[in-house]
Amino acid sequence: MKSICVKDLTKIYNERVTALKNVSLEIDEGKFIVVMGHSGSGKSTLLQMTGLLDAPTRGSVIINGEDVSSLKKNQLAQLRMKTIGFVFQAFHLNPQLRAYENVMLPMLINPEYKTKGDIEKRAKELIDKVGLTPRADHYPNELSGGEQQRVAIARALANDPDFILADEPTGNLDSDNEEAIFGILKELSESGKGVMVVSHNESIIDFADKVYYMKDGVLGDEKQ
Ligand SMILES: Nc1ncnc2c1ncn2[C@@H]1O[C@H](COP(=O)(O)OP(=O)(O)OP(=O)(O)O)[C@@H](O)[C@H]1O
Ligand SMILES: [Mg+2]
Repeated sequence: MKSICVKDLTKIYNERVTALKNVSLEIDEGKFIVVMGHSGSGKSTLLQMTGLLDAPTRGSVIINGEDVSSLKKNQLAQLRMKTIGFVFQAFHLNPQLRAYENVMLPMLINPEYKTKGDIEKRAKELIDKVGLTPRADHYPNELSGGEQQRVAIARALANDPDFILADEPTGNLDSDNEEAIFGILKELSESGKGVMVVSHNESIIDFADKVYYMKDGVLGDEKQ
């Protein structure tokens, strides 16, 4: 079974700020995991360590059975590209590219995709999957926040990752778009991907298979 296994992660920034204290959790394929917590509790830090964007001070991250601590920087980047898709609060779309071109970007650096025609076809399929076909040719500034986040989700799916990690994906959206985005992430988990969302938005709880609560860098099962 595919999984990300995080064990006893501690992150100390600048030898002063302990952002994570012995945090352990598992993201299994087909599951929707939520980490709730107040601002500054360590949610983004956990997501970055789990997604190999930054290294912990102590502890291990095991992705599909492989302990990543022995991997070199470029091996980490390869593993991240193939196994993890990210979604952020601020969408981070390239304003000079059309919606489907933004989705093409991660595939252009993936040697598994050979021709530009294949990449464009797949990008348009992913745009279709998030319900944006009529907007495929639009630029980000011609899209609503909810639509931009759908493009960002399609982009996160570009290299067919096993896992999707989302950091406050609805932080800039109204409640209708919030439900729609959570719904898309839920469908992705039901289709077999392991999904982790960190958020302080309570309405996500209804979608979760498992909810963790973070307080001052400590992860627990109960709201504190
Ligand atoms: N790069 C960094 N350097 C130093 N300290 C950091 C860094 N990133 C985060 N921190 C500190 O680590 C702690 C946890 O921050 P983190 O961003 O993980 O919280 P969060 O739960 O995501 O908060 P928010 O809900 O506001 O996004 C905070 O005290 C923060 O100031
Ligand atoms: Mg954060």
